[in-house]
Amino acid sequence: MAGIDRGGCIPYRGRDAEAARRTVCRRAWSVRSGVHLMNPPSRAVLITGASSGIGRACALDLAGDGWLVYAGVRREEAAAELRSAGEGRIVPLMLDVTDAGQIAAAAEMIARQVDARNLPGLHGLVNNAGIVVAGPIECIPIQRLREQFEVNVVGQVAVTQAMLSLLRRPRPGGRVVNVGSISGRVASPLLGPYAMSKHAMEAFSDSLRRELAAEDIHVALIQAGPLATPIWDRSMPETEALVEQAGESLRQRYAPLLSAMRGYIERTAAGADPVELAVNAVGHALSSPRPRRRYPVGRGIARRLCLLRLLPDAAADWMIQRRLRRAMDSAGRAGG
Ligand SMILES: NC(=O)c1ccc[n+]([C@@H]2O[C@H](COP(=O)([O-])OP(=O)(O)OC[C@H]3O[C@@H](n4cnc5c(N)ncnc54)[C@H](OP(=O)(O)O)[C@@H]3O)[C@@H](O)[C@H]2O)c1
Repeated sequence: MAGIDRGGCIPYRGRDAEAARRTVCRRAWSVRSGVHLMNPPSRAVLITGASSGIGRACALDLAGDGWLVYAGVRREEAAAELRSAGEGRIVPLMLDVTDAGQIAAAAEMIARQVDARNLPGLHGLVNNAGIVVAGPIECIPIQRLREQFEVNVVGQVAVTQAMLSLLRRPRPGGRVVNVGSISGRVASPLLGPYAMSKHAMEAFSDSLRRELAAEDIHVALIQAGPLATPIWDRSMPETEALVEQAGESLRQRYAPLLSAMRGYIERTAAGADPVELAVNAVGHALSSPRPRRRYPVGRGIARRLCLLRLLPDAAADWMIQRRLRRAMDSAGRAGG
């Protein structure tokens, strides 16, 4: 395996973000320099939502590490950009995870291509595509809640179902990596729809892992804290519009919570961990001889998850309410 022993100590918890960044840069260099072209790929992986953020970074990293990467995208520009960045190791394909036709076409195309390249099938599937629908539960249009689940849960299950026959072909079997979130364990105010979907992903990962264990197909779950990607910037304008459209009385009721959330997202984005931490966790889950079931990713995330397991609900509520009051106070002061 080029560049790194995935079975060793790969930093992904935020203890050493700089080491993670250097590791990922080294593999990206291998793609840019053409070093990777010397050996044909022996393993293939499909990544959904590869146009930006974690998915794109994983695609480049795994291509640099010698994988043939099928990169799911929804736009031609994203496909062209990945095609040129991947230099033959990244094969973009149109894959909206809510579109049954595109999922079936992707499975057929991958099956045809891996056969043509004499690859045993798919060694990895990274269920990464995701959106954030946020706002007070009272203001969320039910259709948007459905869309949140369609993309973050139903779409992931549909892609997994379609790829399982390809994941069964290698010996030992391929690996599934689900990109979840700390929101799969803690449901913050205003993040209800997103947190519900990520809680569902925890259950999806556990059931799937236990169903496929006998076939040696490992299923891992990334539990990421805030990472520096466009996802939060993408969701905030919609959240504000939802509250605006909910009418004057709800707008007034939720205005303090909303400005607290705005401040929280700005602070979180400023202190977010580098995306390379997630990239290394995905790499470990795909390649380590001893992959983990869960990968807490980001500074202090493992500690927070452990604390959340031990704390009674009343104590967790008290901590969240205290943080919220502080955020509302400082948003109120900032607003004059
Ligand atoms: N960033 C964080 O702080 C964080 C923390 C915890 C977990 N996560 C999870 O990490 C995953 C990736 O998010 P990110 O932070 O990298 O955000 P991002 O940069 O916004 O990436 C999201 C990706 O999902 C794709 N996508 C959205 N809807 C899709 C659909 N219907 N079908 C297929 N692809 C779709 C987007 O494609 P388009 O460009 O076409 O929209 C994009 O490629 C998500 O599952 C997210 O929940 C992120």
